[in-house]
Amino acid sequence: MSFLNSMQNRYTTKKYNPNKKINSETINELKEILNLSPSSINSQPWKFTLVSNKKTKEQLSKVSWLNASKVIDCDTVVVFSRIDNISLFEKQIEEELPTGAVGYFKEFIKPQSEEQIKSWFGHQLYLSLGVFLSACAEMEIDATPMEGIEPDNYNTILELENYHTMVAVAIGYRDPEDNNQPSKRPKSRRNINQVVETI
Ligand SMILES: Cc1cc2nc3c(=O)[nH]c(=O)nc-3n(C[C@H](O)[C@H](O)[C@H](O)COP(=O)(O)O)c2cc1C
Repeated sequence: MSFLNSMQNRYTTKKYNPNKKINSETINELKEILNLSPSSINSQPWKFTLVSNKKTKEQLSKVSWLNASKVIDCDTVVVFSRIDNISLFEKQIEEELPTGAVGYFKEFIKPQSEEQIKSWFGHQLYLSLGVFLSACAEMEIDATPMEGIEPDNYNTILELENYHTMVAVAIGYRDPEDNNQPSKRPKSRRNINQVVETI
């Protein structure tokens, strides 16, 4: 299948088959893919927490608003968090990245406000979200990106020290009756000519 076909077929899954599990090799591949995500200066200001434990999923479901049943029935919830401790980040890049990359951070990013620096971390994290959703599409794994969650409560439940949850993705396999799948509900997008321009 071409990548275009994968993107046409992927969709935000609203109902999972709780009995269909993702095999462990596939989960390991997804972990590798997350770790290979690109980021500005290779900064990697992130952590990815994979939750398949029933008890933890139940706790997360209670702070996931309309996404509660997806969190419970999916195979795994992948929680995307950005680093929340700027000094720790700086120490990390000083130890791990080339001088030029550290210099870029110190000259262009560090002088900004705390809010702007954390927003820059968030930009990198969302790029990994895009990579991950694309990988799921290509691997025919059903997925639900979820901003409709309570980040502070996710941080507490997952004991995320120095990291802050921004988004989570439920992954698994759809319930065959899921009404949101493209065969039942065709994909909806703006007209391509209003969105993509060629000059
Ligand atoms: C960052 C992000 C957050 C989203 N949050 C939710 C969510 O909390 N719950 C949900 O059911 N869908 C959520 N969605 C799904 C979008 O509504 C969906 O991607 C969009 O309507 C396009 O539909 P499609 O993904 O089926 O092609 C989110 C999507 C993105 C990219």
